[in-house]
Amino acid sequence: MNEVSNCSNPRGKFITFEGTEGAGKSTQISKAAAYLESKGFAVVVTREPGGTPLSEKIRALLLQDDMADMTELLLMFAARAEHLDKVIIPALKQGQWVLCDRFTESSYAYQGYARKQSLEQIATLENLVQKSLRPDCTFWFDIPVVEGMKRVAARKGKSDRFEAEDLIFFEDVHRGFCQLAQERPSQFFRIDAKQTIENVQQQIIDRLEELM
Ligand code: TYD
Repeated sequence: MNEVSNCSNPRGKFITFEGTEGAGKSTQISKAAAYLESKGFAVVVTREPGGTPLSEKIRALLLQDDMADMTELLLMFAARAEHLDKVIIPALKQGQWVLCDRFTESSYAYQGYARKQSLEQIATLENLVQKSLRPDCTFWFDIPVVEGMKRVAARKGKSDRFEAEDLIFFEDVHRGFCQLAQERPSQFFRIDAKQTIENVQQQIIDRLEELM
């Protein structure tokens, strides 16, 4: 239980999807949502940075404009505060399942491990913005960085500010997710993202059923 629960109305589940670029999260989020809806659950699909009109404006800045690393970190959490207040917490309180494409674990991996911002300061922001709320489950799509980068290069033209980073950056992001998965074993569920779409989908469904 945490502050979004109360005794009469158990909160919905908060599920996040993480990984380096090109790991196939989007396809699987849609499939997970369709599965949960077929079981009669109300589902909200959302993303970070973004998910509200204001947070989407912050996202546009984050993906395009050059900025200091600290500005980037604080904007990620500013967008998150708004998203939690307007979308995530109200939905969980109503008993809905929230499926979120990236969340704070990306801030640890990208801003912490890759941009070398202090992990302690990120933890402070996490506590400040989320209080005790943490995802019930984080599906971590684990893919070799080079393979993910090839997939991204194949699917579109112009890269955003993160996609334009080099291999070393994404190796650091990947190392960050590996570390987080070790530190939060009950939260993280590792998916080998090189498998077929059907195999990945089945693993996600099995885990969602355990959470029901
Ligand atoms: P997006 O196009 O959604 O990336 P992807 O399709 O790979 O999920 O862009 C979001 C980018 O923002 C992505 O490169 C990761 C980055 N990001 C952070 O650096 N920190 C964060 O806290 C979040 C939520 C995202």
